[in-house]
Amino acid sequence: MEKINSLAVVGAQWGDEGKGKVIDYLASRADVVARFQGGNNAGHTVVYGANIFKLHHVPSGIINAGTLCLLGNGMVVDPLVLVEELTELEKRGIDTSNLRISGKAHLNMVYHKDLDEENEKLLGEKKIGTTGRGIGPAYADKIMRRGIRAIEMIDLERFRERLAGILPLQNRILKEIYGHAGYDLGRLIELYRPAIEKLGPMVTDGSQVLFECLNAGKKVLFEGAQGALLDIDHGTYPYVTSSSTVAAAAATGNGVGPQLVRQSLGVIKSYTTRVGEGPFPTEDHFEAGEQLRERGNEFGTTTGRPRRCGWFDSVIARYAAMINGLTGLAVTKLDVLSGMDTVNIAVAYRCGEVEIKNFPQSIEELKECTPVYETFPGWDEDISRVRSLKDLPAAARHFLNAMEESVGVKIELVSVGPDRSQTIIGQNSILESWIGHNQ
Ligand code: GDP
Ligand code: IMO
Ligand code: MG
Repeated sequence: MEKINSLAVVGAQWGDEGKGKVIDYLASRADVVARFQGGNNAGHTVVYGANIFKLHHVPSGIINAGTLCLLGNGMVVDPLVLVEELTELEKRGIDTSNLRISGKAHLNMVYHKDLDEENEKLLGEKKIGTTGRGIGPAYADKIMRRGIRAIEMIDLERFRERLAGILPLQNRILKEIYGHAGYDLGRLIELYRPAIEKLGPMVTDGSQVLFECLNAGKKVLFEGAQGALLDIDHGTYPYVTSSSTVAAAAATGNGVGPQLVRQSLGVIKSYTTRVGEGPFPTEDHFEAGEQLRERGNEFGTTTGRPRRCGWFDSVIARYAAMINGLTGLAVTKLDVLSGMDTVNIAVAYRCGEVEIKNFPQSIEELKECTPVYETFPGWDEDISRVRSLKDLPAAARHFLNAMEESVGVKIELVSVGPDRSQTIIGQNSILESWIGHNQ
């Protein structure tokens, strides 16, 4: 079987698919885990035994001592929040000395958070439902070429100089458009001083580090945040995040060639959830949606907001497979479906008189779509202790086969609980070589 030394793990729905769990599982055999987009809008949960970690910037590989963790150039990093996150991990005995930040990553500053909140207020009923972390404004400043990059953190004077050049404009926007008081340069420097002192030494040339690791045959995981349908280009625009969430971004968001990202694993729940606003064809406002939220504990890792819930949607999954070039699927939360009388898969959408199988480009069209379901028998057994596909109830296996067939991509991994140990590797899975490689 082909041995792979690099793998992008990406969300194939609207985020929160269980990427943190899957990455943590695979990270035990990885030399490097690199994030490539997003920032602390992400909330990735890692569970082993009684330990629960909720990670926002820090790659889910951090729990494995010795794994190099990299924040790539495609990210927006909030230095104040990152320091809090590191301090919390250190308090819990996690060694964070292996974290590195690409000098080309952009900084998500306090005024970005203000702008995010103010934008949402101005949008009123048309709000995006952002996480309020400043992500959109930070990326906007990057594109407007008025951002501050992590490389400026290597020296407080450099940081001061860059901020001094930008702050007058930021203050004008804050004051004149939003009626905000604005910021004083000296106070901001004092606010950021401890973070810059802590993070400055972690700044590195991320592309160079990764290039050398990949060429030396080291094993690299690229950790996606958010999901395909939240992608700035391919998602349900404008109800999306502000970065490119697809597997191709693992290359641009770290500054390595696309051929170095060998495989892409799409993480997908056995049902669908979404937080924030925007169309969601299989959303269930009735009993099934409520059951999925309760059994799946579907409340946001970052904001605590209840997640909107509904059945598995193979139209979006096929679309996610196409735009990512998925080579495999990691299906999560199969255990949550135990006890449902029947389980559904949306195999197509009905739009007026026509049935469509491909995801529409515009949300106006998507809003008119209703799902066409295929219904399968449920199962009652608790499957959270099952560790091999053959030991799953026949109905659960049948459901997985239907998922695989409807998406057209092989299931490589099935997760039956939040814990690292509650994981099943598929037969003849490409992941067997990943897991076995270093043994
Ligand atoms: P991420 O953003 O994709 O990393 O996902 P989140 O961590 O935001 O949300 C996934 C939630 O589901 C977390 O609370 C995980 O601990 C939990 N989880 C992951 N996989 C499974 C699973 O197979 N079964 C159950 N019951 N929970 C899971
Ligand atoms: P992880 O990595 C789920 C959603 C927000 C909102 C939209 C834009 O944990 O899967 P933003 O703050 O990014 O400008 O918000 O995107 N969103 C997420 N939803 N999981 C996430 O991350 C998300 N990150 C952003 O709810 O709808
Ligand atoms: Mg999450």
